Amino acid sequence: MSNENSERDYKDPLRSYNPATSVILAGYRPRLSEYSVKVPLFRTSTFEFASAEDGAKFFERAYHLPGDDGEEPGLVYSRLNNPNTEIAEDKLVASEKGANHAAVFPSGMNAIATTVLALVPAGGRILYTSPVYGGTYFLMKQLCPVRFGVETFPVDTSDLKTVERILRKHGPFDMIFLETPANPTLGQTDIAEISNLAGKYGKGKTLTVVDNTFLGPVFQRPFELGADIVLYSATKFLGGHSDIIAGAVLSQEAAHIDSVREYRTILGGTIASDTAWLLTRSIETLWVRMERQAQKASKIAEALKDHPKIEKLLFPGLLSDTDGQAYEVFRKQCHGPGSMITLLLKNSDRTGAFRFLDNLQIFHLAVSLGGTESLAEHPRSMTHSDMTEVDLDRCGISDSMVRLSVGLESSDDLVEDLMAALKVV
Ligand SMILES: Cc1ncc(COP(=O)(O)O)c(C=O)c1O
Repeated sequence: MSNENSERDYKDPLRSYNPATSVILAGYRPRLSEYSVKVPLFRTSTFEFASAEDGAKFFERAYHLPGDDGEEPGLVYSRLNNPNTEIAEDKLVASEKGANHAAVFPSGMNAIATTVLALVPAGGRILYTSPVYGGTYFLMKQLCPVRFGVETFPVDTSDLKTVERILRKHGPFDMIFLETPANPTLGQTDIAEISNLAGKYGKGKTLTVVDNTFLGPVFQRPFELGADIVLYSATKFLGGHSDIIAGAVLSQEAAHIDSVREYRTILGGTIASDTAWLLTRSIETLWVRMERQAQKASKIAEALKDHPKIEKLLFPGLLSDTDGQAYEVFRKQCHGPGSMITLLLKNSDRTGAFRFLDNLQIFHLAVSLGGTESLAEHPRSMTHSDMTEVDLDRCGISDSMVRLSVGLESSDDLVEDLMAALKVV
């Protein structure tokens, strides 16, 4: 927080609190900033060193040059570090059970791409969940193999037998990239079983990486299940107000985050201090928002589940023992259902889905998710439109599919809105 007095000893004792408490306290001490209770905005590109000796030492530490004594580098230049960035990172570590280190980014895609570039060597191999978010799909399907010589294997990771077969046949892999629940199908992948398989077939090198955007640290704790890296689009629930674009990478091991930070510095993937400030403000309300949004989504799912115009309603909270493996995974791995609902309209095509979307009054017709306002979108023509038709069909992302993100409006009003739009389909 200050080059004169860069105490960071307060962080660890906070870890004994419940994360909802630590997240409020972590990362910031008023006495280091004029006793301001809330975090100031450090809008500066560069920092003054107390002495030339200090400046040289901070660079040794930041760049791991000979002479690096392993201590935290002081504040140098805002592409490397900034108090607002570091405070957001400390709050993320406090919020995620099992995390020890974090790096924040100007977008979720920047966090994902930087992690892949930093941790997968040229000629390496990645197994990834299919379907995944459209941007991740493009990175895995196009950029990795075509630009970086990295072989990538899309797999329905909810099917452990197939994952094991691919790992045995094509391994060892450098990374298994999971998105669970998957966007937009809400498919459930068993993180603990996959990290066991990574250990069994990985010859010590396979990293299990989880994009935890949909459930967040509130409802899913991948490190407790054996994950090595957790990723977020912080644009979504962590930001929570649809007013920032941001991303985050968390790890247990310093070496992983050191590599990710090194790439961040050189690629220049630096979050603006204003954005980091907004993220810091938002993380403090993460628990209350996500819990309330999940309650509202559960009410909506209950109200819609037997609607005659809905073919299928995908919502983790509706899984039951007739859903077999998906229900088992949800029960053992998730601490709540989240607030994403995907529905497939009965006997409908794109025209029907568009009519439904165009008739919603409270749900905004917009991509993204996790904000205070409810959103609705058409994955096949919007978030997942980069996918090939073959892949869209294989993953069941049909023209009749609509994805909802439930916000904080009254659930009664939201149900009424959905019912009215269903009437005109
Ligand atoms: C699951 C998931 N991961 C990653 C991303 C990418 O995040 P961003 O838009 O912040 O780059 C998204 C965006 O929708 C997403 O839904």
